Amino acid sequence: MPQTALVLGSGLGALAEQVKDAVRIPYGELEGFPAGGVSGHAGEVVAGHIGQTQIVLLSGRVHYYEHGDAAAMRLPIECLADIGIRQLILTNSAGSLREDMPPGSVMLITDHINWSGMNPLIGESSDRRFVGMTNAYHAGMMKSARRVAKAEGIALHEGAYMWFSGPSFETPAEIRMARKLGGDAVGMSTVPEVILARFAGLDVAAFSVITNFGAGMTGNELSHDETKEMAPKGGERLGRLIAAMLQEQHP
Ligand code: HPA
Repeated sequence: MPQTALVLGSGLGALAEQVKDAVRIPYGELEGFPAGGVSGHAGEVVAGHIGQTQIVLLSGRVHYYEHGDAAAMRLPIECLADIGIRQLILTNSAGSLREDMPPGSVMLITDHINWSGMNPLIGESSDRRFVGMTNAYHAGMMKSARRVAKAEGIALHEGAYMWFSGPSFETPAEIRMARKLGGDAVGMSTVPEVILARFAGLDVAAFSVITNFGAGMTGNELSHDETKEMAPKGGERLGRLIAAMLQEQHP
């Protein structure tokens, strides 16, 4: 049985092509899975293997900004836990807050700031809702990512991902604030999924592909087209890194 699952973000769907003997199931055919989505997000479960390692991919996610539901990915993530998945690797596209981390970079998310004020566990009544987030990102998985990046010659940045609700991009003033508050990258996803995955008892690692500098850092206007165009550039390297991480577990 597969032990690892992967969530693919905007423009990173090409990673799904690496899966061999793939079985593909559109979300629409799975009861309770989120239908519809954003351009650049396919919306299907892909099960198969990369190298020797069995894997389940969630290709496409639902964002908080689509329907105002921070828990939109709860059922898919709980399904993963139910079928025996132990670790979840999340990916996204993000804006950089650091001059030394240009578009095309790959960043290991080592921590996050939930700037949206939303939480996918609002309304959950059991005491399990008080999920500890001190070690939200799994130390062993981060070590493995660093080791593999070094071995593969892939530059791997590290930093804190700051979740803005979107869908509008940030203003230059918000980006100046985000930099002062300790963010290294900004984006509109992933944080609720990390919370849900920890709630479900999964170990988590997460990566950003940097598609642009934050608003106002260059003077250029931001766009989703730019995100989709740039994501595959860093996405290719992130794909190699994740594939190598998987082989490390099952050489
Ligand atoms: N801000 C928020 N989300 C993003 C960005 C950004 O600059 N780039 C890609 N996703």
